[in-house]
Amino acid sequence: MTTPLEYVRAHRDAHLEELKELLRIPSISAQPDHKGDVRAAAEWMLAALATAGMENGRLIETDGGNPLVYADWLHSGDDKPTVLIYGHYDVQPPEPLDLWESPPFEPTTRDDGYLYARGSSDDKGQVFIHVKAVEAYMKTDGRLPLNIKFIVEGEEEVGGGSLAAFIKSNASEQIKADVVLVSDTAMLTPTQPAIVYGLRGMSYMLIDVTGPARDLHSGGYGGAIDNPLNVLSHIIAQLKDMDGVVQIPGFYDNVRNLSEDERVMLGKRPFDEAAVLDDTGAPQLWGEPAFTPAERIGARPTLDVHGIIGGYTGEGAKTVLPSTVHAKISMRLVPDQSPEEINKKFIDFVQSITPPTVTVNVRAEHGAAASITDWTVPAMQAASAAYVKTFGNEPILVRMGGSIPVVGQFQSEMGMESVLMGFGLPTDHIHSPNERFYVDNFYLGIETAVHFLQLY
Ligand code: BES
Ligand code: MN
Ligand code: MN
Repeated sequence: MTTPLEYVRAHRDAHLEELKELLRIPSISAQPDHKGDVRAAAEWMLAALATAGMENGRLIETDGGNPLVYADWLHSGDDKPTVLIYGHYDVQPPEPLDLWESPPFEPTTRDDGYLYARGSSDDKGQVFIHVKAVEAYMKTDGRLPLNIKFIVEGEEEVGGGSLAAFIKSNASEQIKADVVLVSDTAMLTPTQPAIVYGLRGMSYMLIDVTGPARDLHSGGYGGAIDNPLNVLSHIIAQLKDMDGVVQIPGFYDNVRNLSEDERVMLGKRPFDEAAVLDDTGAPQLWGEPAFTPAERIGARPTLDVHGIIGGYTGEGAKTVLPSTVHAKISMRLVPDQSPEEINKKFIDFVQSITPPTVTVNVRAEHGAAASITDWTVPAMQAASAAYVKTFGNEPILVRMGGSIPVVGQFQSEMGMESVLMGFGLPTDHIHSPNERFYVDNFYLGIETAVHFLQLY
């Protein structure tokens, strides 16, 4: 009799080839042109879950959004726990394309041991780990050691709106479970696993500033009619001081202070400053002086500008006062800031500092609350023991600065804790050109997931 572990070891090459198929589908949720590809990725996931032996597979259609992929296998009885496996099949836009060494949707393995493609680490490669772990049991034992449900969404990278609405509806009963298992985060090094117990939340804002009704000659009007791009730059400059302290009134009101105990715990995370500078190419670290880099990233809120659109950006010079300009800005939130509260404070502040020479429109694109998982739940112990079996090291508990919008919602609205058992690496270049996934972590991730299902 083949064991599940023997099965995954015997099928490594085939599993990698299957993952490449999924990675060839450009399921970019931010770009409306890719709506069809996003759906194709959902259908591909659905078929993969059926192949793995999961039942009741279906696409849950959402109101104008991307489908949720659902499947389950619930024959282990009521005395066994039910695990909800969550992931996302959508990916970030691949731009700027000219910086990719191999095309983003032509998955390529290189001699450095990585598989390169958009979505390889975030999150297709990681969610597929669980599909293959489940398949290993079904193809060998013909059954799972516990009950499993899958929910894979296609809007995580754009705020997770459809899954959020689904959870608020009565239909959310379908995804009720004892715990959620998520692989959408990173380990610290190839041999040092991490369980993420804290994620930041987010308020994503859009600003439009409009001045004259059309673009104007900057010689004929400059000096007498205000320039929306100058005004927008001035607004942005007032949002933070030079140390990174956000200047919006009341922004820090509900920030939960770090306890001394937690500062000690966060201090255990090795933070190799030289390695970070080397990997990122940044000349030096930066941020709030009163906090360590790990605290700034994991436990402090921030504000960042992601894009400014406006004026002439083509070749050569053009002298113009642009009529309308735009900015995309997000704030990473921590407990107990709420996105609603922060959205309002941001809107009020921007309106209050906008001069009457222009009109401003400020609105929230999406938002999500931060989350802190109870790290004493039994599933955490199982995840920890599973990592030890495959990577040889106990995982370190860390807070990471990214956001997974639904994790906070699973907790506050459904009473479900999430175990964030990630297999990415900090050097995977997620959201950047040349995103990659360490192939050994793909294989060992499948083995870790196999152990987890047995141990929990
Ligand atoms: N998988 C990431 C989040 C992440 C990455 C957490 C690494 C911890 C470590 C996720 O796909 C992501 O990028 N989320 C977005 C959410 C946003 C658009 C609401 C983010 O954090 O920017
Ligand atoms: Mn992700
Ligand atoms: Mn992402």
